[in-house]
Amino acid sequence: MSNNIESVLKEDRVFEPPTAFVEQATLKPADVDALYKAAADDHQGFWADQAREHITWHTPFEQVLDDSDAPFFKWFADGQLNVSYNCLDRHLESRGDKIAIIFEGDDGGVEHISYRELHARVCRFANALKTQGLGKGDRVVIYLPNVPQAAVAMLACARIGAIHSVVFGGFSAISLRDRIDDASARMLITADGNYRGGKLIPLKETADKALSEGCESIEKVIVLKRADCNANITEGRDMWWSDAVDGQPDQCEPEWVDAEHPLFILYTSGSTGKPKGIQHSSGGYLLGAICTCRWVFDLGDDDVFWCTADVGWVTGHTYITYGPTACGATQVMFEGVPTYPEPDRFWQMVDQHQVSIFYTAPTAIRALMKQGDEYPQRHALDSLKVLGTVGEPINPEAWMWYRRMIGHERCPIIDTWWQTETGAHMITPIASYTPTKPGSATRALPGIAADILDESGAPVTDAHQGGVLVMTKPWPYMLRTIWNDPERYKDTYFGMYDAHTYVAGDSAQRDEQGNFRILGRIDDVVNVAGHRLGTMEVESALVAHEAVAEAAVVSRPHEVKGEAIVAFVILKTDGGSEKLASELRDWVSEQLGAIAKPDEIRFADGLPKTRSGKIMRRLLRTVARGDEVTQDVSTLENPQIIDQLQARGA
Ligand code: WTA
Repeated sequence: MSNNIESVLKEDRVFEPPTAFVEQATLKPADVDALYKAAADDHQGFWADQAREHITWHTPFEQVLDDSDAPFFKWFADGQLNVSYNCLDRHLESRGDKIAIIFEGDDGGVEHISYRELHARVCRFANALKTQGLGKGDRVVIYLPNVPQAAVAMLACARIGAIHSVVFGGFSAISLRDRIDDASARMLITADGNYRGGKLIPLKETADKALSEGCESIEKVIVLKRADCNANITEGRDMWWSDAVDGQPDQCEPEWVDAEHPLFILYTSGSTGKPKGIQHSSGGYLLGAICTCRWVFDLGDDDVFWCTADVGWVTGHTYITYGPTACGATQVMFEGVPTYPEPDRFWQMVDQHQVSIFYTAPTAIRALMKQGDEYPQRHALDSLKVLGTVGEPINPEAWMWYRRMIGHERCPIIDTWWQTETGAHMITPIASYTPTKPGSATRALPGIAADILDESGAPVTDAHQGGVLVMTKPWPYMLRTIWNDPERYKDTYFGMYDAHTYVAGDSAQRDEQGNFRILGRIDDVVNVAGHRLGTMEVESALVAHEAVAEAAVVSRPHEVKGEAIVAFVILKTDGGSEKLASELRDWVSEQLGAIAKPDEIRFADGLPKTRSGKIMRRLLRTVARGDEVTQDVSTLENPQIIDQLQARGA
């Protein structure tokens, strides 16, 4: 009984924004009240005002929202701008010499890049792209390490109106090939390799493998020399980055594009089929990046911002390449890993670069928490003002550790809920304003209409009841479509209720104060170390192995990674062995990348299926977690299989 009360009390811990923080903040509580009020009074007028205030338009817009073809929404459609101009040129006069990027390599080497220098590099690279025949609307795949050149390549694409699709450097040749093919990219930008945690990642080798198995659309490959690891260069197709920019002028007139012109495609896992190319706009997306940096983090001119994500994920797009630069801020960019050379790398870097806003993933916090308090205790950490998290639910224990050990109880903890599709923060505390609660992403931002619905579409009002998380109004920085597949866009995000109700794919719950708690995915997607993976993709990879007849993939909780992958595998012939299990794990890692590697493979004679042939994944999840099966198994075609699956896990 006392345990129960205590856990209830624990969930009720509420932390007001620290007074000292609020006093120095740019955005005061009254300002935030005004934002919430303006947004509630006039949704479109509010966003129009924000867009006029924060974006430098080449042609000002007259139209705000066009919802005549819902769910294909358009924002600021008759306005024209250039995103790279907003991130670079407009700062040159006021803060040209200000440091834009403090880059720290895996080996500890540090480079400071000013706005003037970043602008020059982007212009030179944009001119190099033009020399290679690229222009507005062309797709460019970027497969680079987390180095400034990745941001330069992205901004250079934006400058000439080309559409980038960044593929995370940890993805395999097959994943890279599929993404290149789906986007019909004309160019690939990669590196020979790089070091992460002291280990060589041979990017060009992987890229060559991808290129040898498809990728017919690729005409040119630009290769950054980062590891000096004797990468193969194919005459006529490949060229070194340094040669491509050699002699290029450091000015490049921006291509003015419509606000709705696609800025990028970023592939993300869906529950079924191939990854979805999430397509974002130029104007609306940029607005989301700017507003959320300013509101949520209180990002100002004197801050040093550090988002530890990789540019290969949406977090790196919005909170490295676009948001901080559009705000004219100074940021840290890091190539390495938190535990190399020692588990205090993050904290050592926070002190060294005097980081004031730090944004990372719960999985990193849990991993570092496990290493012990001695590592953060070695460092002062007194430059920190705001601490953020993203990517998955953060458990209250990790939240409290983050607050105590890293924030010294002085920094607001900002648990930001959003998605590749939403473009930027959606449900999150505002540092100077929102009382926070461990494990809760708190409230929707001004101009964001979040709700929780039951299956019939009625709002869930009971605080103890979960439901489907939805957005009931469009917002400027939402995705515009799925590349090449508008029908899938409609079905996936607007298929459950109506064309104005965006379904996020997560379930959520709201407490008596109206704070949201995200419960997890409602579809078959697992979240490993903050990375979304479709169980379908892992299953397809397994089935592609010659020994495998059928596979079903589920997750179980993992104390560091959040979730771990468990695969149930049916072989073509008998004889599941330890050796084959390990071969299959490596096989998946090769096909999809190391993050998709199953923690466990369980062989069985069959999978639990309904009579209509659907695999009962919910049941498998119960088995994988070692929980007692309480579900009704009477609809199963082969109920005896459950005993076998359970026994094999013991
Ligand atoms: C999950 C990452 C709980 C969620 C920006 C979402 C979260 C998916 C949180 C999107 C959070 C992200 N609390 N869950 N603060 N942030 N998620 O597209 O399931 O890689 O739908 O975008 O991660 O992952 P994605």
